[in-house]
Amino acid sequence: MPELRLDRITKQFKNKIAVDNVSLCLSEGVYGFLGANGAGKTTLLRMVCGVLKPTAGEIRCNGTKIGKLDGDYRCLLGYLPQDFGYYPDFTARRYLEYLAACKAVPRDLAREKVQEMLRLTGLSCDQRNKIKTFSGGMLRRLGIAQALLNDPEILILDEPTSGLDPKERIRFRNIISSLSKGRIIILSTHIVSDVEFIADEILLMKQGRIIEQGTVKEVTQNADGKVWEYLAGPDESLRLNETFSVSNLKNEGDKVRLRIVSDTCPCDGAVPVRPGLEDVYLYHFEEVSEHVDHLERRTL
Ligand SMILES: Nc1ncnc2c1ncn2[C@@H]1O[C@H](COP(=O)(O)OP(=O)(O)O)[C@@H](O)[C@H]1O
Ligand SMILES: [Mg+2]
Repeated sequence: MPELRLDRITKQFKNKIAVDNVSLCLSEGVYGFLGANGAGKTTLLRMVCGVLKPTAGEIRCNGTKIGKLDGDYRCLLGYLPQDFGYYPDFTARRYLEYLAACKAVPRDLAREKVQEMLRLTGLSCDQRNKIKTFSGGMLRRLGIAQALLNDPEILILDEPTSGLDPKERIRFRNIISSLSKGRIIILSTHIVSDVEFIADEILLMKQGRIIEQGTVKEVTQNADGKVWEYLAGPDESLRLNETFSVSNLKNEGDKVRLRIVSDTCPCDGAVPVRPGLEDVYLYHFEEVSEHVDHLERRTL
């Protein structure tokens, strides 16, 4: 069973500190790195993969620096980068067979492994089709299939669900859950629901730092007393919406039920409710417009 230790990892690009003094210990389980765009997730994951050198700090796998392990470390690793490149004119099968060869998977084993991964990711029927005909969801599944070819003990997936529709998202989550035994799975996302149900541990990342870490239960418990519900009239609702972070709005007759994230009671009559991970996200990243878009869509 692998163990990864990050010891005071920092990455600086010119005068930008992308990852700031991060220390972590990861063993078997699914770790969900959650943060807004620019939080430093990709930079951190690239360092864990060994494709980017930290400015300071060390990463050790089972006690040895990953630079020293070199090829041995790569054998343990499966990586789906955020901007994954495909060969559009390859068929899915040829592409996976090609990558299996690149990863030095023995030839007779490779055929079998490719078929197994196609099955696992639901692409068996499409294996003879060219990749350029694939949907976004199929491409992402192919990305996972390639990351798994060498049966990695450490699987790193950077924004694996970007561009997927809700059904594909669920399918993807189920694939990840089915893989978690005996592995370290690290996945990054800015979408709360992607990690809420499958991550054993949530790591909230902001400005290069891990600002919260724990199970969903632990992380949400930290926000106890900061989430409120209130049934407001239309004018009142408008005013509260402008003043506070509102994580949900629901029309109820001529009134609006507001879910408000605030350190203190937002108004007379507001009652504290149990926080969810979305509330915690909003508490830390209220300036994120994508989240607001998401809320607006939900309330329509
Ligand atoms: N190669 C690079 N050169 C300069 N700045 C970079 C580079 N890569 C990332 N950054 C900066 O580091 C910060 C973190 O980026 P990134 O790790 O991509 O965040 P995330 O994946 O959470 O969106 C951003 O401000 C980004 O602009
Ligand atoms: Mg990123």
